[in-house]
Amino acid sequence: MDALAAASGGTTNRRLHAWVGEMAALCKPDRVEWTDGSESEYDRLCEMMVAAGTFIRLDPAKRPNSFLARSHPSDVGRVEDRTFICSLSEQDAGPTNNWAPPAEMRATLGGLFDGCMRGRTMYVIPFSMGPLGSPIAKIGVQITDSPYVVVNMKLMTRMGSAVLDALGDGAFIPCMHSVGAPLVPGQADVPWPCEGDIHRKYIVHFPETYEIWSYGSGYGGNALLGKKCLALRIASVMARHEGWLAEHMLIMGIESPAGEKTYIAAAFPSACGKTNLAMLVPPKGFEGWKVHTVGDDIAWIKKGSDGVLRAINPEAGFFGVGPGTNSRSNPNAVATFARNAIFTNTALTDDGDIWWEGMTDEPPAHLIDWQGHDWTPGCGRPAAHPNARFTAPASQCPCLDPDWEKPEGVPISAFIFGGRMSKNMPLVFQAFNWSHGVYLAATMGSEATAAAIGMTAMRRDPMAMLPFCGYNMADYFSHWLNVGRRVVNPPRIFRVNWFRKDDNGKFLWPGFGDNMRVLKWIVDRVHGRGYGVESPIGWMPRREDIEWTGLDYAPKTFYDLMAVGREAGTVEARSHEELFDRFFDRLPKEFIFERELLRSRLWRSADQWELAREE
Ligand code: OXD
Ligand code: MN
Repeated sequence: MDALAAASGGTTNRRLHAWVGEMAALCKPDRVEWTDGSESEYDRLCEMMVAAGTFIRLDPAKRPNSFLARSHPSDVGRVEDRTFICSLSEQDAGPTNNWAPPAEMRATLGGLFDGCMRGRTMYVIPFSMGPLGSPIAKIGVQITDSPYVVVNMKLMTRMGSAVLDALGDGAFIPCMHSVGAPLVPGQADVPWPCEGDIHRKYIVHFPETYEIWSYGSGYGGNALLGKKCLALRIASVMARHEGWLAEHMLIMGIESPAGEKTYIAAAFPSACGKTNLAMLVPPKGFEGWKVHTVGDDIAWIKKGSDGVLRAINPEAGFFGVGPGTNSRSNPNAVATFARNAIFTNTALTDDGDIWWEGMTDEPPAHLIDWQGHDWTPGCGRPAAHPNARFTAPASQCPCLDPDWEKPEGVPISAFIFGGRMSKNMPLVFQAFNWSHGVYLAATMGSEATAAAIGMTAMRRDPMAMLPFCGYNMADYFSHWLNVGRRVVNPPRIFRVNWFRKDDNGKFLWPGFGDNMRVLKWIVDRVHGRGYGVESPIGWMPRREDIEWTGLDYAPKTFYDLMAVGREAGTVEARSHEELFDRFFDRLPKEFIFERELLRSRLWRSADQWELAREE
């Protein structure tokens, strides 16, 4: 092995050497370090960050080998406004993405990255999205000047020397990242370096060349480039070209007491409880049932040699939202981050552990909040940032599916799409067929609570991919329609809504473990056992089609939860037009027909379409 290969994890990949050399010349770091993905490297970098004040080591008895990081208050989440899809043509990015001409963007990035790593180490991270060697997996290489990113990538991906071996002389997706905070000689570093000016942060994707450039942020999806940038935005483009799907979906396996296993992939917008659903604990009445987790955020789905759609989780860890997670809402997540975890922007307890809103019924009497200030209950500020996160290896999840790393993936029997809708949208219904299902998924809406003005605003979030589709969403809808035509026994498609409220603003459905009751009906339908009534919007379960053992649930509440108003349904169908108009002639023709069919079914129904109520 020559000296260059030895210094670079043993790789002789010429394209990789050339790219790293070019990036080092541009960014001008003090040193370049190729990461090997070993435990000793992880420990060394964590210790280095403890010494630098970026990490606080948590109490080794309470939270073994775990750390807390506090970000800069300006760097706390994904920045959709600063996320760009720079395709050659603006139409190819579509009306739902920020677009800039690629040449112009390259010039901007060239200026920003010039010298941006002065005083820092440039880390080279070879990583695989998906099990190494899986025919569905892809290899990326991230360059970053953030050791926080390196250790998070170690938990979230398969990374290091083994990936270089698998790469050989093959192609990789270049992922360029800098926090955008060079140091002049003698300048002291800060615990969380980043670019403070939001207008100088850029999360950029070049879909034609499969490239990612991210500048100015060290947080989450902005900086761990394997996740949203590669596994969704760039992968969605690759998937379209190569005939598969890259989706913002959890993957779960449901096992009946008789041992029948059914895999489901489910798309929900951010912050709708995907991790909780993926790790659901079956409630009372479901003794003998098991839920297995394959993934909580992203699914790569490809036709297998048997013609059936199969899915892998491209990630190797969970980057989950902390607040609201507790031993009742998600005991499996609590066990997953019990050790070897990284916490970001949580509160710190006096005995060296972490805390966030909703972790315990009673908050501790004193905490250090996510910004490092003293905190007491009732002080008027949240202790943890609402987007505080845990990063933890999937291998620590007690309900992890035994087949989660199967190279060919797991067979998918159903797709579920669900938003957060306080009104009008029933608990569950099934699409009549694939193209109706794609229509239902494409018109999915979700409410974000604008607490300040006490109103709820609904945004359309097709397939929960609005912030994550790397190309024109109308072409994405067509791609979905085509995939369904090419597979054997396409998965059945369902809409769900756990979030419908009564007139007093109280949730009608208990949620969490009781979602299992809905999943069981879905499983029954998939296997041709469950009954469904034809309604104007799709197939619906009657009350007797749902398993109620262990839950005392008033029949009236169930009917309220399932009712479909003709007026409201018609308004909803009309508003699909607003979404569709934005896509002009690229919109698949099937969608026009589906909307008209929906309108006519609603028109011919009673004012209020209801499942027959029992006396
Ligand atoms: C998201 C996430 O924002 O998974 O969707 O973090
Ligand atoms: Mn997500």
